[in-house]
Amino acid sequence: MNAEPPLVEVKGISKRFPGVRALDDVSLSVGHAEVLALIGENGAGKSTLLKILAGVQPPDDGEMLVAGRPVRFRGVEDALQAGIALIHQELNLADNLDVAGNIFLGREPRRFGLLDLATMGREAAEWLGLVGLDLDPATPLSQLPIGRQQLVEIAKALSTRARLLIMDEPTSSLSARETETLFRVVKELRSRGVSVIWISHRLGEVKELADRVLVLRDGKNAGEISTRAEIEHDRMIRMMVGRDIDRLARRPSHRPGDVVLSARDLRTPAHPGHPISLEVRAGEIIGIAGLVGAGRTELLTTLFGITPAVGGSMAVAGRAVTPRTPIEAISAGLALVPEDRKQQGLVLEMAVRENMSLVALWPESRAGFVDFARERRLAAEMIPALAIKTPGDRQAVQFLSGGNQQKVVLAKWLAMKPKVLLLDEPTRGIDVGAKAEIYDLVHRLAGEGLAVVFVSSEMEEILSLADRALVMHEGRLAGGLSRGDLTEENVMRLAAGGSAERMSA
Ligand SMILES: Nc1ncnc2c1ncn2[C@@H]1O[C@H](COP(=O)(O)OP(=O)(O)OP(=O)(O)O)[C@@H](O)[C@H]1O
Ligand SMILES: [Mg+2]
Repeated sequence: MNAEPPLVEVKGISKRFPGVRALDDVSLSVGHAEVLALIGENGAGKSTLLKILAGVQPPDDGEMLVAGRPVRFRGVEDALQAGIALIHQELNLADNLDVAGNIFLGREPRRFGLLDLATMGREAAEWLGLVGLDLDPATPLSQLPIGRQQLVEIAKALSTRARLLIMDEPTSSLSARETETLFRVVKELRSRGVSVIWISHRLGEVKELADRVLVLRDGKNAGEISTRAEIEHDRMIRMMVGRDIDRLARRPSHRPGDVVLSARDLRTPAHPGHPISLEVRAGEIIGIAGLVGAGRTELLTTLFGITPAVGGSMAVAGRAVTPRTPIEAISAGLALVPEDRKQQGLVLEMAVRENMSLVALWPESRAGFVDFARERRLAAEMIPALAIKTPGDRQAVQFLSGGNQQKVVLAKWLAMKPKVLLLDEPTRGIDVGAKAEIYDLVHRLAGEGLAVVFVSSEMEEILSLADRALVMHEGRLAGGLSRGDLTEENVMRLAAGGSAERMSA
């Protein structure tokens, strides 16, 4: 018999917020050298549970044991002392510091009372090496793209030499290659005896990494899968959602109308040597596929005037306009839901309904007076349409779960009733059930004549949502695939710089 107690155990944890019962009598245990996946729908309570484990916030009720001993964390420091480190869902780094400064924030090595910058740089480089980042530790953090910032955050957690690392959706802003590196790191850690709790909405990852899966539903335990062999996609979905979801259902395409967006020889500042031409018709849903760095986001930001074109021209709904600013783009009828929603999409202190009406109603407000009746109607329409979990439309967005915050961003741009909707990784961080709802909504809007262009790194999303795909490779359009040719293989081939195999004549 194995008498060794689990590394960490929590029993009967409850947590309430005003209007929300986030956790209700939840229990969890993590063994030694084990990867435990925690899954559940948006708002199920995953982040809340892990914040309690990491000392970020106290539970209202319940007990916690580390190696069999009861503990009560007064803060993050206590949890770190006990060997538990959390990598937040929202990045938690100091923008004004360099990379090494972030890794050692609050624990800077000192010599003779002074910061020991040499040691700091050397050790930082080692931790960065572990997560596959070949980077000068003196690089200001603000210069790094978000995926690399995430890896810095992981290096920082590793540097605390925790015995339990908690990762809250660590891969949601990583490229495929960065994700692979992180998988390697996690497996390596496990073989060295470290345990990991992994939250992800990507069930493929869970299957690849987890030894065990714990499911939360509406703040309660909803079951567990306790052996690797039983970790299976549809089973996880059933446990999370309580029903089956038809995940690859292709929705019918709509008969495309007139061209509403066209670009001719458009040159993005990122890849000025590769002019891009494209046409999108009303009712069409176009997926832009390609590897990270292929220029997909840059294409969207140029279409939207954030990184204005350095050559070429555009027309929206028959009117020539090549936006130099997002405001010009918006008034031409374009909307963009950006990749990095935290920084570009929301005013966290403001209410759900205010955020939703931010682009649709505020610009026409008079002397700061918004039409509040319209604002309420808008929220009353959008909250159920996107299945947003919130106690009400006046809740500040900062108190919503990560996935629900993203739905508010979507709502905000949909409310504008644009002619063309540009989406960058539209369902990142959104659970499987809500994903299906968002796809349905996008389809319904396309049926009403909206043109949609979306960038996605998820093959399934390209295959199931797009009527047509454009595949980018190193800054150029490598090819287009219509419905008949739209297969995983063809997308991969074009993305890798090859050519597609024609299946339909
Ligand atoms: N500080 C807070 N104040 C009020 N409500 C909160 C607070 N933190 C979390 N909640 C609520 O508690 C519930 C659980 O949220 P939590 O962030 O744990 O969900 P999650 O499972 O991590 O979801 P996601 O997959 O979207 O990240 C949600 O309804 C959320 O709105
Ligand atoms: Mg969360």
